[in-house]
Amino acid sequence: MTHIDTPLARSVAPPECTDRTDRTDRTHGSASAEVPASRPPLPSDDVILKVEDLKVHFPVTRGVLLKRQVGSVKAVDGVSFTLRRGETLGLVGESGCGKSTTGLAIMKMLPASAGRIAFDGEDLAGFSGAREKRFRRSVQMVYQDPFASLNPRMKVRDIIAEPLQVHGLAGDRAALQARVAELLDMVGLLPYMADRYPHEFSGGQRQRIGIARALALKPSLIVCDEPVSALDVSIQAQVVNVFMALQRSLGLSYLFIAHDLAVVRHISDRIAVMYLGRIVEIASRHQLYAEPRHPYTRALLSAVPVADVRAERRRQRIVLQGEVPSPMHPPSGCRFHTRCPSAMPQCRSADPVLRDHGDGQMVACHLYG
Ligand SMILES: Nc1ncnc2c1ncn2[C@@H]1O[C@H](COP(=O)(O)OP(=O)(O)O)[C@@H](O)[C@H]1O
Ligand SMILES: [Mg+2]
Repeated sequence: MTHIDTPLARSVAPPECTDRTDRTDRTHGSASAEVPASRPPLPSDDVILKVEDLKVHFPVTRGVLLKRQVGSVKAVDGVSFTLRRGETLGLVGESGCGKSTTGLAIMKMLPASAGRIAFDGEDLAGFSGAREKRFRRSVQMVYQDPFASLNPRMKVRDIIAEPLQVHGLAGDRAALQARVAELLDMVGLLPYMADRYPHEFSGGQRQRIGIARALALKPSLIVCDEPVSALDVSIQAQVVNVFMALQRSLGLSYLFIAHDLAVVRHISDRIAVMYLGRIVEIASRHQLYAEPRHPYTRALLSAVPVADVRAERRRQRIVLQGEVPSPMHPPSGCRFHTRCPSAMPQCRSADPVLRDHGDGQMVACHLYG
């Protein structure tokens, strides 16, 4: 297969320097518009997603023929949060803490072992037939790796059109072409790019293609699973801006997963910090960065560089000791006590509850009574 076959194509999108368009394509498409620093307050009662005490455990078996369950990986072990319409909730924590598993359970791509997920007030577990189909349109996912998540054998046009075809919404050829062109424009790409293959694009552009595909079915909620983690730092902000501009024009809600607090700062209204299958703190973006309460949040935040040079010099890194324990055998009491610089005797035995301490900032830690 040769996909770059004209001098024009070579001059516009050569594979070796395709990141150029990431830097210059801001003038194309509605998603590239400037994003205001602050957004109007969101209605507090319009909840699109409610997750209550969600558990997702994976059985661990032994034996080849007679598989015997010898334990379970408690990937998600009692997670609760709400997401309002038009809101972005950042979900942050180290690799392996259960972020993707939470996202996949919300997508109904993994079964919940316990707990309840309600979308638009209805329990996902009860969805079937037409309701299930409607749900599958309303909730979409953007994946971490734009290199692995796009089929290399399909043209961009077909990648973006596929969800429409699967759901029988493609219409005639002209309508489909027009919709693909519109979706490309929404993410700041150009119409001619529909006829190219994924390998002809840079990481940032591929992620834009992934976003266009996710938008095809006009979802109301997008689970963004580390959508910028695989990209160069210089490209990350541009893709985050695409997400933000789309949210503003389409009223989307995002669960935005990341493994560090630097990435979610710009985009999140609120942020949930996860450790070993649990949420240890949830707060507004402002509260979390101004006054992180949980010792784990403080440690994560201490790793985020500060723009101000003097503040950066004063910044004290909190380096956590030891490894993250196995989710097969989480520690007793507070799961973080084995690594916590502020651990007290009670932390070993009593499991702290995630509680609001009066100002909307919720923390699961015995330091706060
Ligand atoms: N299909 C699976 N079977 C068994 N264990 C799994 C499976 N998927 C994830 N896990 C385990 O569950 C934990 C959480 O994984 P994951 O949700 O992918 O974390 P994160 O996205 O935060 O990096 C990890 O310990 C991982 O190894
Ligand atoms: Mg993950």
